[in-house]
Amino acid sequence: MIDTHSHIYDEAYAEDFDQVVARAKEAGVTRLVTPGIDISCYESMLATADRLDGYAVPTIGLHPTSVTAGWQGELQFVIDHIGDRPFCAVGEIGLDYYWSREFEKEQQQVFLEQIGLASEKDLPIIIHAREATEDIFRCIKKLGRRLRGVFHAFTGSIETYRQIKRLGDFKVGIGGVVTFKNAHVAETVAQIPLDDILLETDAPYLTPVPFRGRRNESSYVKFVAEKIAQVKGVGLEEVDNTTTANAEILFGICK
Ligand code: NI
Repeated sequence: MIDTHSHIYDEAYAEDFDQVVARAKEAGVTRLVTPGIDISCYESMLATADRLDGYAVPTIGLHPTSVTAGWQGELQFVIDHIGDRPFCAVGEIGLDYYWSREFEKEQQQVFLEQIGLASEKDLPIIIHAREATEDIFRCIKKLGRRLRGVFHAFTGSIETYRQIKRLGDFKVGIGGVVTFKNAHVAETVAQIPLDDILLETDAPYLTPVPFRGRRNESSYVKFVAEKIAQVKGVGLEEVDNTTTANAEILFGICK
């Protein structure tokens, strides 16, 4: 399995980092994609990637909730450093109107610039969309180029999934929310082909059942895979093999 969205470089793991990595490997997690957020996380993210020697694959991007005063410097950092390493994606990027709409226009501008950059560099994108799906669609249409990537933490309807598929070569990232009681996304996942699904945790956030409410970690991606197998009526191995291949192809990370 590949956890396509892990913030394992977060200080939440400062105390027991090695054990967390060991548990992920033991659970069958073969690779982690570690999305960037803003300048403050890069040192730690890159140090973690070096320490894990290929097991954690970093991305570069400016997260929408980090688009605040000083966003120009943050965006410039992404532009200046995208060539520093073989980053496997531009992310996480997008729009988040849930936390604040104060910088709504700037968020849109930054998102547009970054999807343009991804297109130029021929990289996939990791999209964070919160209460802003329509505007995400609008920005992608405005760019007018064929993009590929993943709608991370997808919890939408089957109709939203269909709109996403018309928009470009996109997958949906399914995480802990699918295990929550009464989560509508489980019904949607039942109708989405496995070929379009990536496994993710968003660790340390969005912890799946049975550990909901506690700190998340990449080993828990197995609970997400088990739930997907259950709702789709297929074996765990099929979920593992297909979603792993999906992630390897999208991010260009082969074993
Ligand atoms: Ni994230």
